[in-house]
Amino acid sequence: MDMQTKIHEKFVSLYGEGGAAYASAGRINLIGEHTDYNGGFVFPGAIDKGIVAEIKLNGTDKVRAYSLDYDEECTFGLNEEDKPAKAWACYVFGVCRETIKRGGKVEGFDTVFAGDVPLGAGLSSSAALESCFAFAINDLFKNGIELAELAKIGQSTEHNYCGVNCGIMDQFASCFGKAGNLIRLNCATLEYKYFPFNPKGYRLVLVDSCVKHELASSAYNFRRQSCERAAAAIKKNHPEIETLSDCKRIWLEEVRGEISGEDFIRAEYVIGEMQRVLDVCDALERDDYETVGEMMYQTHFGMSKLYEVSCEELDFLNKLARKMDVTGSRVMGGGFGGCTINLVKDELYAPFVEAAKKEFTAKFGHAPKVYDVVISDGARKL
Ligand code: GLA
Repeated sequence: MDMQTKIHEKFVSLYGEGGAAYASAGRINLIGEHTDYNGGFVFPGAIDKGIVAEIKLNGTDKVRAYSLDYDEECTFGLNEEDKPAKAWACYVFGVCRETIKRGGKVEGFDTVFAGDVPLGAGLSSSAALESCFAFAINDLFKNGIELAELAKIGQSTEHNYCGVNCGIMDQFASCFGKAGNLIRLNCATLEYKYFPFNPKGYRLVLVDSCVKHELASSAYNFRRQSCERAAAAIKKNHPEIETLSDCKRIWLEEVRGEISGEDFIRAEYVIGEMQRVLDVCDALERDDYETVGEMMYQTHFGMSKLYEVSCEELDFLNKLARKMDVTGSRVMGGGFGGCTINLVKDELYAPFVEAAKKEFTAKFGHAPKVYDVVISDGARKL
């Protein structure tokens, strides 16, 4: 039985007559990691794994939400003090609250939802959930909030209800995703451009280390603070700058003695990564996948040695890719576990996947998971 049918059956058994169904997606990111909250570029796309929700107004002032994956129900009100205790329900509650804060109408509804984005794999299961509900609520209550603002509703939900000070990349990709296209997004202005992505002779494949870092959200917030301190120090000399995206490498050098060594290398990584996104876009326009791949390796090096968001398992997968002449490979998403994204020549795909499974299992005692990347549509009504 497919996910939508299972959801519908549960909905009918719990809440009577069925409602409308909506879906949204997780995301990959080709390059541009930890650049979004620094006002830089990112290059994500939505994937074929996401969240589906069925939803119907219930004529009360309460939300009754059922997570099929957790097999749990949670009922909550729509005022600030009604924040539910269950972590998964906070995403739905946060989206309701952020919609109301923007002047949107939200009244009681019933919903059943489920997802197939692997949790903690760096594929933004939480953004998929937020975008699905932001889109559904906007449509149900005819609030007329624009898609970019729906992405911001998801981001604010993370900030204000989930404790993660994330950038806009995940929610934007989840809302704006278009089958077959990556999105080059300027996170300072939210200007974006679709790039059809169909590299002849290559495939994108994710290798999931299945490592989940417990303190990932606090470590993530610390990285962001480092960047903000570095930018503030540079601003003293160059008042026109707002974020690291406006900074030249040489300006960072000027403040080397004024910021901590740790803040320095964090900013060094981010400034390098901003340039790599632009280089990858140029390379894609020439179908130059060797350059794209080389930039991915450089990103991995930076994320591992300067930004320090990799781990032993991800470094192992990256090294293995290099050893096997895989065109590009790097840790993807926030880091601290999750997947590597690999740009692999068609003929190398099977031997690489086989070696990754065998060698990783031999070293770490558990098998990695492998997902083929299928670039798909984002938030929508089904
Ligand atoms: C997480 C965040 C994003 C972004 C990435 C790193 O996925 O939610 O906003 O910062 O990490 O690029």
